[in-house]
Amino acid sequence: MKRIAVFTSGGDAPGMNAHVRAVERVGEKRGLEVIGIIGGYAGMMAGHYEVLDRIRTANILDRGGTVLKTSRSPEFLLPEGRAKAAEQLRAHGIDGVIACGGDGTFHGAHELWLEHGIPIVGTPGTIDNDLWGTDTTIGYDTAINTAAEAIDKIRDTADSHGRLFFIEVMGRHAGFIAMDVGIACGAEFVAVPETLTDVEVLYQRIVAQGLDKRTIVIVGEGDELGGAVELSKQIEERYGLGSKVTILGHIQRGGSPSVRDRVLGARLGAAAVDALLEGASDVMIGIASNEIVRVPLHQTWEQRKTVPPYLVELSTLLV
Ligand code: F6P
Repeated sequence: MKRIAVFTSGGDAPGMNAHVRAVERVGEKRGLEVIGIIGGYAGMMAGHYEVLDRIRTANILDRGGTVLKTSRSPEFLLPEGRAKAAEQLRAHGIDGVIACGGDGTFHGAHELWLEHGIPIVGTPGTIDNDLWGTDTTIGYDTAINTAAEAIDKIRDTADSHGRLFFIEVMGRHAGFIAMDVGIACGAEFVAVPETLTDVEVLYQRIVAQGLDKRTIVIVGEGDELGGAVELSKQIEERYGLGSKVTILGHIQRGGSPSVRDRVLGARLGAAAVDALLEGASDVMIGIASNEIVRVPLHQTWEQRKTVPPYLVELSTLLV
């Protein structure tokens, strides 16, 4: 193996740059040439490749987003798109690839390996923390801290006015962000996709808190009842109770990565380079009980990682 490539794909996540930097630095130490693919799978198909070196990867550790850019590529979902990508990878002499992203990225990587035999390993890069087989993902720690900081600020005004607030956080079909920030910020109720949300129970919780008191309800965007807007509407329609709604949105994806995300990105980057050199492919390089693990890519989406019941219970005990 002489030349490897790294790319970031799907939603950007803080810590991806530390990851790219680690791949470049460790790759260089192992005698490899490291190529950065610009713009995710779209760039892979279009031939947007550039050589990475120490200078290109300098001063990026503390930057949010991804210097390699990213995309969600519908074309790569088709066999023709993947054939185009494989052709480009071969034309650029790429012997192995590191794909940093979430489950969509991993699906693509798996297909590329199956259809074209291109050695490829995945590294978990998503704020959602929803990949089975790894305890955490690059970007998650920063995202929950960003969300918590915003929620603390909303709490100040909610407390001053004695208002009911519904705050929606990201996480797609997983409630990790919602549950962690709910506990961290002392929410009165946390609605997550993993459990059914009972509007009557929610209302009783609001009443128990006191209708003239500050009440914070955290809503994971994937909750089966809909997001924060829908929940607030239901509480208004059924009980005549008004509320304020805040959707935190993409601020959760931005900002300088936390130390944890930088270290995680670096560890996974180094381990991914070594995994390729050892002949691994079609696996995710993850972290479990603080040890690096290799998990078959298909398992990361076939098995569902969900918020553990003990956290759900804890969130109700703390109100
Ligand atoms: O997967 C990361 C994530 O931010 C999810 O939490 C969210 O549902 C989705 O991406 C939003 O994607 P986009 O930025 O493409 O709208």
